[in-house]
Formats: sequence, structure tokens, C-alpha cells
Amino acid sequence: MLFNFVAIALLQGSSLFAFANPLAEVPHRPRGCGSIIDEAKKNVAELDFKAHRRIATAVNGLLAAGPTTLNVHFHVILKDGSVRGGNVTDSAIQEQMNVLNIAFLTTGIQFNLQSVNRLQNSRWFSGAGPTVSAIQDEMKTELRQGGAADLNVYTVGFESGPDQGLLGYATFPSDFESFPEDDGVVLLHSTLPGGSTPDYNLGQTLTHEVGHWVGLYHTFQGGCRGAGDEVSDTPAEASPAEGCPVGRDSCSGGGLDPIHNFMDYSFDSCMNNFTPGQVTRLRDQIATYRNVPGGVIPPLSSLIPELPSIVIPEPQVPSSVLEEPTPVSSAPVEVIPSAPIPEASAPGAVYEAPAGPRPTARSFVDFFRRKI
Ligand SMILES: *[C@@H]1O[C@H](CO)[C@@H](O)[C@H](O)[C@H]1NC(C)=O
Repeated sequence: MLFNFVAIALLQGSSLFAFANPLAEVPHRPRGCGSIIDEAKKNVAELDFKAHRRIATAVNGLLAAGPTTLNVHFHVILKDGSVRGGNVTDSAIQEQMNVLNIAFLTTGIQFNLQSVNRLQNSRWFSGAGPTVSAIQDEMKTELRQGGAADLNVYTVGFESGPDQGLLGYATFPSDFESFPEDDGVVLLHSTLPGGSTPDYNLGQTLTHEVGHWVGLYHTFQGGCRGAGDEVSDTPAEASPAEGCPVGRDSCSGGGLDPIHNFMDYSFDSCMNNFTPGQVTRLRDQIATYRNVPGGVIPPLSSLIPELPSIVIPEPQVPSSVLEEPTPVSSAPVEVIPSAPIPEASAPGAVYEAPAGPRPTARSFVDFFRRKI
């Protein structure tokens, strides 16, 4: 696929041809998965999204054009002053920001590093995680900055307790209203570019976690059946991919598994794209729940002038903002009959806080877990 090729070229540069023999000498080391959002909780979240969905993207410059930049607050938790002890270098953080911004180019969202806060706390470094929430609650309550549209990243060690060995976890946009202090991404420090975690040290763990933070599910959500990840152009996948299994096709029909997608579990070197359907969903998610205004998503070629004029598929957008908006996702949807599902709001509509019952349980997602 042309789109994939462009993204691969952007991210991988000269290592493009390394895909030829993907798993030959790579030791078996799956990302693994401790827990993911269950279908029941996902269905509740999706009903809320359908009821309050704010359409963010439009065509022909009718909404504000240009990429939207979100602020990032980086909280480096260390147990000692060494890199091994979590004291990642400024250049690793900058490199991580570059990787994140290249990965998000096609979404029209860019990230600006606003602050770096280094803090020595070995309890947080070792024990912060989604399972024992007291430690991470203490950390986030003390450190989190900004509002719903500000990304807070905490780098830790996941060295002890039930969350030992995690690569990272994130909160969803729809949880912000109920749990604002909890919002953000917690990341294994050695997944930053140049870090010491084999196969997961090119910075795509943060890309993947920020994908959740802007409202995307795993590509393997729900397996082969049902609405899956609520995005129509990511073929269903029975289970997470491991390594870089080119040609994998774990569900009949629908196409090959999206192993190069940032929301799968492949190695960092294997990940290179969000699909247009994911871009539409994430822009609408953050318009709805993070009050990030919509806009025209600029073509990739306008962001990187030196790129040759390659045709990039445009994100899926309503055909005209003057027409009745049509639901964006064509994925089959499980509808609970008694629940009223209002029309999606028009592009540019005035934002209204979602009404109705709010989630009562936090949905940490994506407990990436190294084999330990
Ligand atoms: C952590 O690293 C920064 C710069 O990389 C340095 O200024 C700081 O002193 C280090 N922290 C400790 C506790 O050594």
C-alpha cells in the first residue's frame, strides 16, 4: 500500500528493507498484554460517544485550517541520577517528541514539549502502575499539569509489584471528565528512543499510548467478531501481533492483519501508520472529550515540502459540511435498543459537555507487558 510505503520511508529510512526477513533472528519476545478494555465497558463508552459525537474534520477550509498543537508535560521519575535509574537524557526526550510528531503527522495533531520535570522518588519509579492505583494516584495528583487537552507523560520503571514489566498504559479521552487528575500516559523510561528495552526502544510505545489517549482502541479489540476497534479500515485481528509477522491474516475476510498499525502490538520497527479511519475517529474523540477544535487535516505533502508529490489518501470526512452529517464509522455497531442515540453534532457545532451517566470505573488500557 502506497500510504504504508510513505510512512515506512519516513520512519525507517534506510532500514526499509529490513522487513524482508522479519522474524528470522529475532528472539521471541511478545509485548504481551495484562488487561485490555472489555467489550461491556467499551460498549458503554461507544454509546456515549455516539450520543455526543462532535464531528471535527471538514473539507475545503470551512473550519480553521492547519495542524493543532497540543502541549506535553514530561514528568521524569527517577530512582537515582543514572540513565538506568530512570534519569533519561534531554536528548532522548527530544528524540521521543520527534518520533511522536512524525507518527502523528497524518492526524493533523502535533505535540509541543512544554515542560520537563525531573523528580527522584523510588517508590513511584518502581511501583507506579495501573493495578495498585494508590501509588500512581499519589504521583499524578502531585504532578499533573494543564487541562483536558494537555498530554502528561510520566516515565517510570515498573520494577516491582503486579505491574512489573509493563511498557506503558494510558487513559481514554472519555474518562477525563470523571477522572481529570488521572489523565495521561505512564511509560517505561527505557522505551524512549535509544533506551535499553530490546525491540521496544524506538519510541513507538509512546505513539501507541498516545493513540489511546486520543481515543483509539487496539486493532485486535474484540477479535474477529463485532465492531472491533470501531474503525472500518483496520481489518479485524484475532489477537495481538508479535514481532513483525508480515502476511499474517488471523481473521477470515477483511484483509491482512494491520500489523504495521501503531495500535497493534508489533515491534517498534514494524509500526508505521494510523489509517484514515483512525484519524477521523481520534479527531472526533478529542473534539468531543478534550475540546480540541476540529479543522482541515492538511495533506502530508504540505507538512513535508521536500517529499515528492505522492498521493496520500485523504482522511475520511463528511462530503459536505452543509449536508446533514452522516455517521463517520461504518463499522457494525452493537445497539442497545432502549438507549436513545441522537444525531451527531454538526461540524463546528458549539461544544456541549456530554450529559448523562459518566463512567464510574477507570479504564486504564493497554498494559503492555514484556515477558519477564
Ligand atoms: C539527571 O539528569 C539531568 C540532566 O540530564 C541532570 O541535570 C541531573 O542532575 C540528573 N539528576 C540527578 C539526580 O543526578
